[in-house]
Amino acid sequence: LNYNVKRDRRFILEILFNGLRRLEYRGYDSAGISIDSSSSSDPNGQLSFSPLVFRQEGNIDSLVKSVYKDVASIKLNLEELFCVHAGIAHTRWATHGEPSPKNSHPQTSGAGNEFLVVHNGVITNYEVLKETLTRHGFNFESDTDTEVIPKLAKYVFDKATEEGDQSVTFSLVVLEVMRHLEGAYALIFKSHHYPNELIACKRGSPLLLGVKELSEDMHSGAPFLDLKFISENRHPKELFLSSDASAIVEHTKKVLVIEDGEVVHLKDGGVSILKFENEKGICGNALSRPSSVQRALSFLEMEVEQINKGKYEHYMQKEIHEQPESLTTTMRGRLKRGGSTKAKTVLLGGLKDHIKSIRRSRRIVFIGCGTSYNAALAARPIIEELSGVPVTMEIASDLVDRQGPIYREDTAVFVSQSGETADTLLALEYALENGALCVGITNTVGSAIARNTHCGIHINAGCEIGVASTKAYTSQIVVMAMLALAIGDDAISSQARREAIIDGLFDLPSMLHLAFSFNRSLDYKDLFYCTVVHLGKSNMFLPCIFADKVREVLKLDQEMKELAKLLIAEQSLLVFGRGYNFATALEGALKVKEVSLMHSEGMLAGEMKHGPLALVDENLPIIVIATRDACFSKQQSVIQQLHARKGRLIVVCSKGDAAAVCPGGSSSCRVIEVPQVEDCLQPVVNIIPLQLLAYHLTVLRGYNVDQPRNLAKSVTTQ
Ligand code: G6P
Repeated sequence: LNYNVKRDRRFILEILFNGLRRLEYRGYDSAGISIDSSSSSDPNGQLSFSPLVFRQEGNIDSLVKSVYKDVASIKLNLEELFCVHAGIAHTRWATHGEPSPKNSHPQTSGAGNEFLVVHNGVITNYEVLKETLTRHGFNFESDTDTEVIPKLAKYVFDKATEEGDQSVTFSLVVLEVMRHLEGAYALIFKSHHYPNELIACKRGSPLLLGVKELSEDMHSGAPFLDLKFISENRHPKELFLSSDASAIVEHTKKVLVIEDGEVVHLKDGGVSILKFENEKGICGNALSRPSSVQRALSFLEMEVEQINKGKYEHYMQKEIHEQPESLTTTMRGRLKRGGSTKAKTVLLGGLKDHIKSIRRSRRIVFIGCGTSYNAALAARPIIEELSGVPVTMEIASDLVDRQGPIYREDTAVFVSQSGETADTLLALEYALENGALCVGITNTVGSAIARNTHCGIHINAGCEIGVASTKAYTSQIVVMAMLALAIGDDAISSQARREAIIDGLFDLPSMLHLAFSFNRSLDYKDLFYCTVVHLGKSNMFLPCIFADKVREVLKLDQEMKELAKLLIAEQSLLVFGRGYNFATALEGALKVKEVSLMHSEGMLAGEMKHGPLALVDENLPIIVIATRDACFSKQQSVIQQLHARKGRLIVVCSKGDAAAVCPGGSSSCRVIEVPQVEDCLQPVVNIIPLQLLAYHLTVLRGYNVDQPRNLAKSVTTQ
């Protein structure tokens, strides 16, 4: 939205299209856009605008094509504008109604597009609202829950003007609409009655306002600006509203995280934010005075390069290969080796005031969905071991469905890459109501989970765009291993174990080790290479070692591609793991099924003989995770039992263990050798070949690896 800046309409369109491309990973089955049509003068000499709406099934490119086709056929002029222009756009992940133009957003109030709405979330009481509005003469065209919103806005607006209130403001109309909505939403409204204005509001779903100053004399270098300053509309600026920072960061890093119940009003290049505490509105009851929101903008840490594919073909591929770096940033500044009293410790700033309470809890409950749940499962054994506190696991939706017991004495840990998953947020609300100490583990600074938990840890893995989570998974495990170390930090008996884990963490990614700082014997077999560093003016050269286990395992890329070629036509795949690597089995199978669309199941190896064994024959491929840990000999027996039934085996084992895991020699099974690390960190290494397998299977099978069928990266609806 520009103020006093000469732009043509193509500029507006391109900003919106690019924003949608950035958000495409959140949903990609259909898309839509609305901008204003040609301006003309009304009798008072004012410019008037009427909104044009384009909606298209399929991805953003289909929408772009259809819009520019209309440009060619005169429906849309791309003439220069010298005024404010307000446009909205949306990419959809269908909840109510199949992907189709009529179900795409913006949804409209009807002919004339008096009110238009884009929506992220789900309106749970839409049926009741639809029934009421139908009784008032509204005809519904779509199968969406969203359509009730613009129709309700029209109803409210018509009622207010019929009753003689010609001055009803756009914010008041939206506030009244909000009063009737149940469910989760982030909404942006555009209206023919309020040209050059947009209203945004939210409850539950995420929403950000980005501010780009176009004038040189503004404090453009300052990271924080008072909202009051940017509210003044005398300075040219562009304002952006988005459910995700990735659509904003290429324009500005100055953002305001909009909170539940706030109504953002963009008008004539200015912005005001109101918060209405009272539930009463213009239909009947007097409204309490809204309070005006004033707070400082925050500064996005994200870099544009993080959201580009760089030299890679796909985001998933890029994110798998950048794990040495993402793990380094996850650990940066948090691990300490040296010092007089405690040689090796973990520093987790976000927990420092709460760690004692966590230690004293009666139980630690991990709560998450999908990959985040699996990461917590991978960390569970080490948290139990080092904390001595019982740990239970909850899938967020199941906890809410059961209204499972959560007590004041519990610590509830919410694990979520996006920090916005609706199921996890509902579980958080429930745990807060029950008085538990709530800890967030998320990759997204400013997300709902980061804001609404009592304390937490950011995983700092960098922006993850691929729908299938990869680098966030390994960073989550590492963060939870550090959590275990922090909770157990006061136990002398486990100090040696903790120090071994800290050394293990240092060895995962390419962290520089000065050889003299190792106070354990070095295992040169494991080292990638040695080099020397020149220490300043001292002319001292010291041997440096990169013990880079993650980069080492990434070298399996080609081998996993070859394996993918062998498995390309299979219908199904089983993955067996146990102990630390039960989670690896679940997560490996999840990766394969979600992107390559091949049926795959992760199973607890201890349960194999209680059912899954019936599936085993010489055709079904079975991956067994059998790296060295306390369960190794049990996994050897599982392999024996599968082999005895002619199972088609692929075994992930520690380097040098091929003979120990293949009954009857290498012809009986295919072996994937991975570097051995500290047992509780082994899931970080072991998942990587399975991520690579899922990636290559998908590409070879011809599917879109970054946009798997029917899925979305952040599911902000229940
Ligand atoms: C969706 C994604 C999964 C993800 C899950 C939890 O289902 O497709 O990849 O693991 O949500 O997301 P979160 O952001 O809470 O980790």
